[in-house]
Amino acid sequence: MAEIHEFFRNSKQSHQKITSLTAYDYPTARLLEEAGIELVLVGDSLGMVVLGHPDTTQVTLDHIVHHVQAVRRALSSSILLADLPIGTTDTVAQAVESSLRLQAAGADMIKLEGPLISQIHAIVAAGIPVVAHLGMLCQRILIEKKYEIKGKTPEQAERLIQEAYAVQAAGASALVLELVTPLVAEQITRAVKIPTIGIGSGPHCDGQILVVSDLVGLQPWFRPSFVIPKVDLATPFQQAVRDYIEETKNL
Ligand code: KIV
Repeated sequence: MAEIHEFFRNSKQSHQKITSLTAYDYPTARLLEEAGIELVLVGDSLGMVVLGHPDTTQVTLDHIVHHVQAVRRALSSSILLADLPIGTTDTVAQAVESSLRLQAAGADMIKLEGPLISQIHAIVAAGIPVVAHLGMLCQRILIEKKYEIKGKTPEQAERLIQEAYAVQAAGASALVLELVTPLVAEQITRAVKIPTIGIGSGPHCDGQILVVSDLVGLQPWFRPSFVIPKVDLATPFQQAVRDYIEETKNL
């Protein structure tokens, strides 16, 4: 735990940007660690990226535990961050119990959506480092109906800044900002002592996180507007499959 706190403190103080990607399985996690990624998230994006659901609201704690165990086998130096999925943070007791299960499965720290101050406080008191998550909260998609940028109005901006202070005071080690206007993300980054890790929130956060399949172009049917894939892996993947089909048919 001390090492994790030190990593986040040092990154903020030395202005070293934090690098983070999601992984849900052993080979991907191993490739990420070997490439030098510092923080690997078993996110509830699992529901969309791996399980084929339209959003993250079908993901259970059992799903995340299963994938944390696989990712754990791959990592020896990168930090393993695990998401608390929907329905696991409604009460403080449930949030602590769910976090302990993720820790037992191999998570080094957990992430939870929203300014759940009492939950963050209790999880940290139980000895598990926490990453808070503000801005667009995917677990609220059935209520909000669409993925919208947050912080556009002065009221929203002020609320986000106050929430950032509150999660910091509750003991969070870092803060993910998802789909927050770049200006507000920059203001929060300057205001708080813990590092911010942005996704679709501009370049001024203390680090960046992305869903790995978005980065490498493995889901050509869905691309968030803020992602420019670094490579298009879907094309050579399908070409290899087509070559294999042809070779097999001609045996
Ligand atoms: O579940 C996830 O992959 C996430 C990232 C989008 C930050 O929470």
